[in-house]
Amino acid sequence: MRIVFLGPPGAGKGTQAETVSKNEKIPHISSGNLLREAIETGTETGLKARSYIEKGLLVPDEVVVGIIKDRILKGDCKNGFVLDGFPRTLAQAKILDEMLKTLGNHIDVVFYFIVSEDAVVARLSGRMICSACGANYHVQFVPPIKEGLCDKCSGKLHQRTDDKPETVLERLKVYREQTAGLVEYYRNNKILREISSDLKIEEISKNIADIINYELKKHKKTMVG
Ligand code: AP5
Repeated sequence: MRIVFLGPPGAGKGTQAETVSKNEKIPHISSGNLLREAIETGTETGLKARSYIEKGLLVPDEVVVGIIKDRILKGDCKNGFVLDGFPRTLAQAKILDEMLKTLGNHIDVVFYFIVSEDAVVARLSGRMICSACGANYHVQFVPPIKEGLCDKCSGKLHQRTDDKPETVLERLKVYREQTAGLVEYYRNNKILREISSDLKIEEISKNIADIINYELKKHKKTMVG
């Protein structure tokens, strides 16, 4: 199943994408993680992306599209993937559709995460990331067992540079201006499913799993019929 997670920064897309990835045995492709890895390793893509990310702006389409295309063409994406953070502009959405079409595929379902701005600000201001394995925590909502250390690998936890309050506000503005319009695009394509993200993590996971199971059953029926 080919899934897209769409929604504002801090909506919980990455958290839920990890669960779907484990349950459905499909890779979690996060454009943000791929860009941050590129910055870490000092690649040309990373050098181009750095200043945009630090300011809370979108990285130019031609930079992001390349790394996403390369990732989707890897063997582990043959049976599907969950795309988190991509597409973020209409141009990206159209490029993705075209690319999948040439592979004989399409996006099956787009989850649109609906969340209040107050929740987003609270979530991002308390988010902590493991410097070693990238695991995601929250000082209040998903606290590590030992303060400042990752439960999985004991790596040090840090705050993302773009989670500073002024950058979060810029990211929300950019989302409203450049990404929110994709909701209509996918609604018109009849693949949009709305998800309330103002709930507990486990409740959201259950709602997403129910929709995925429904879509999988529908898909099997079409194949048989
Ligand atoms: P990216 O990394 O994609 O960031 P984002 O979309 O802004 O999303 P976040 O990672 O901030 O939030 P999330 O929704 O995944 O929430 P999470 O699960 O972590 O992008 C970063 C930057 O890269 C962009 O600004 C841009 O510059 C660039 N970029 C990336 N993709 C691009 C593209 N396609 N085009 C151009 N530029 C691109 O949850 C947040 C926190 O809340 C965590 O601490 C978590 O533990 C907690 N939490 C999660 N769910 C809940 C819940 N239900 N209740 C309480 N706490 C919760």
